Amino acid sequence: MHNHLSRRSFFGMAAATAAAAAVPILTEPQLALAQRRRIMRDIPPGAVRIDANENPLGPCSGACAVMASLLPEGGRYDDDLTFKLINTFASIEGLKPEYILAYAGSSEPLHYTVLAFTSKDRSLVVADPSYEAPMYAAKMSGAKIVKVPLTSDYAHDARAMAAADPNAGVLYICNPNNPTGTITSREQIEYALANKPKGSILLVDEAYIHFSDATPSLDLVKADKDLIVLRTFSKIYGMAGLRCGFAIGRPDLLAKIQTYGMNMMPILAVAAATNSLETPDLVPQRRKINTDIRTDTFSWLAANHYKFIPSQTNCFMVDTGRPGKEVIAAMAAKNVFIGRVWPVWPTYVRITVGTRSEMDKFQTAWKEVMSAPASATHHSIHHAPTTLARLGGRDLPRGAEKILS
Ligand SMILES: Cc1ncc(COP(=O)(O)O)c(C=O)c1O
Repeated sequence: MHNHLSRRSFFGMAAATAAAAAVPILTEPQLALAQRRRIMRDIPPGAVRIDANENPLGPCSGACAVMASLLPEGGRYDDDLTFKLINTFASIEGLKPEYILAYAGSSEPLHYTVLAFTSKDRSLVVADPSYEAPMYAAKMSGAKIVKVPLTSDYAHDARAMAAADPNAGVLYICNPNNPTGTITSREQIEYALANKPKGSILLVDEAYIHFSDATPSLDLVKADKDLIVLRTFSKIYGMAGLRCGFAIGRPDLLAKIQTYGMNMMPILAVAAATNSLETPDLVPQRRKINTDIRTDTFSWLAANHYKFIPSQTNCFMVDTGRPGKEVIAAMAAKNVFIGRVWPVWPTYVRITVGTRSEMDKFQTAWKEVMSAPASATHHSIHHAPTTLARLGGRDLPRGAEKILS
């Protein structure tokens, strides 16, 4: 009964918001989950989950303590906590609070920015491969999507992106990039800002910036340039399930995305985020943990002659030399769930940096899978019944299956 009702209301919502679009806006966890569900209905206990760029460390201990003490207040809407979070971030970054909006994660402002600044007349320009969510949002707004290949060093090609379409509405720059974990230089971002089509904006997604040496773009916001920067607490801060993120931009740009509505913030996430920002060693400590495990994984991959793209974040791509989807299924059969394939590079799979013990299990399974001939890999695929992926407790409409397959 419950399922039936929620499915109906989901279809209703999808139809109402997007007459022309067959597919809802899908995000990283939903794409990861859809892939898992295609292989196996339920993830077995003890599985290694390195498919969704999550942080296995979770929220820091101070954040956990603050949330525990705040639990009894859960019956209250509490905007003061959100103001405190925004003011804390503003003072750390030297920004005016009115240049910051808080959301339950960065997905919402990402979608709203694309919806607000693209249309059937104003396209979305993205790198290829890059994070897919903006493309789903552009499909909703009926916008053309222009894909520009990454450069040979896996940066965004700012020159080509700026020139890709004179009617562009948004140039999306994911810095560092998901899935490659590679960075785009300050010069490239400045070039894109200076040369983008009139009336367009840059959307600079800094979800993974804390892991890397990439230069943040917040000072360009301070200088009132035409860009919106996204930040999230889902990655280095380990709060993906708690949900907290920011859109940072000139107030007139933020006003455009606010027309899509502002939900009240979840108070536990807000308090945890504030505590995380106030914990000075947190980012450098976690960055070092991630870098050390990633570097060791790269040494192992190199020693075993596997081809990978050097990344600066908590994910990286490896070339399997065979259809990546077969390797994903064969790894899942060994209880190691790795990330997806991007259509432009069908033999590459994305791996998230997990804990040391998770990466040890990854290495064991990887070696077994990759030392079997490609055809043997194929035979070892566990064929789950093809069911519609269930996400957020709801079934996806059929159109989504095609995109996800
Ligand atoms: C590049 C990028 N942007 C945005 C997001 C959205 O994350 P969240 O909504 O959890 O902040 C993700 C999630 O993985 C991502 O990879």
